[in-house]
Amino acid sequence: MSAASHTVVIRGTGSYAPAKVVTNHDLSKTIETSDEWIVTRTGIRERRVAGRHEDPSDMAAEAGRAALKAAGLTPADIDAIIVATMTGDLPFPSTACLVQHKIGARKCTAFDLAAACSGFVYGLEVASSLIRAGVHRHVLLIGAEKLSSILNWQDRTTCVLFGDGAGAVILSRGEGPGARNSIIGIRTGADGEDAGLLYQHAGGSRHPATADSVAHGQHFLRMNGREVFKHAVLVMEKTATELLKEHGYTAADVECVIPHQANRRIIETMAERLEVPLDRFFINLDRYGNTSAASIPIALDEAARAGRLRPGGLVLLVAFGAGLTWGAALLRWPAGA
Ligand code: UT7
Repeated sequence: MSAASHTVVIRGTGSYAPAKVVTNHDLSKTIETSDEWIVTRTGIRERRVAGRHEDPSDMAAEAGRAALKAAGLTPADIDAIIVATMTGDLPFPSTACLVQHKIGARKCTAFDLAAACSGFVYGLEVASSLIRAGVHRHVLLIGAEKLSSILNWQDRTTCVLFGDGAGAVILSRGEGPGARNSIIGIRTGADGEDAGLLYQHAGGSRHPATADSVAHGQHFLRMNGREVFKHAVLVMEKTATELLKEHGYTAADVECVIPHQANRRIIETMAERLEVPLDRFFINLDRYGNTSAASIPIALDEAARAGRLRPGGLVLLVAFGAGLTWGAALLRWPAGA
């Protein structure tokens, strides 16, 4: 670490899930699917769906307020808000600006980050770099998604998989000689060659919304599930292993793995390949499905509040998503988060 770099501390976490629960049984009433198929193939039992007027910025603001409370900070303390999302309220301005207004953090910078399901890990890399370099003191990083708004609820191959929600962390500059670095290392990567495996065809500038695009359902999420599955398993394990090795650790040193919550079978395969017992993985996808950029921060908050993260213990985050994008972060859980 250079003389100019600062310590980065995870100071608080928060999350928010919409009240409405949609179970597999509910879905089986409208499409040809079953609780048995969804549980066996994915591990998902239910997901949350935001209300008609409940925007990603509303969920992000709730998660952000909870993280601020946990950190013992006020909105005025925040220097930057970063929102990782692929379902922002509007094409522009950014959801982060809307969150800034909603939580009353008037004098900070605010921007969105687009890396799909890997957005939170990408955001950790950006936020921690800004703090380490001395640019900002307190950063509010949020993953927030309203995937229900881009799902084709008649397509059983996608609509059963995803859900809505938001999770947040406060990253702060460590103060005083006793401050211990929470971020040991982060690795991110991307491969745009496989962008066509998971994407939204219309709604951007290449295919703006038209009556025709809407009639053809081109604004819905599309995924080649089998191919994404194969890539996810390989890349998540590889990235995690490389990150651990780079910092002189092995998977056996990790006390809690918080993976992107897409499919229980992906997590089980990763556990086998990493040779880490499954009970060291924090899994909540049975209750939320895949909430993309919100999935890791929601799980991190729940794991912290459930006492699953021992102060001083190593925590590994691993993400994978559209882009393709991926990332892993090795954390040392702070004593006073
Ligand atoms: O967050 C970004 C990362 N995303 C992911 O990681 C998702 C990765 N992919 C997956 O999790 C899995 O590939 C899926 C859960 C999407 C699909 O599981 P699968 O075991 O790969 O199933 P499949 O796509 O091979 O489909 C098997 C069968 C098909 O029927 P046929 O062609 O064998 O007759 C599907 O039509 O299951 C059928 N099927 C369903 N049946 C009942 C697909 N979806 C459903 C459904 N209910 N919801």
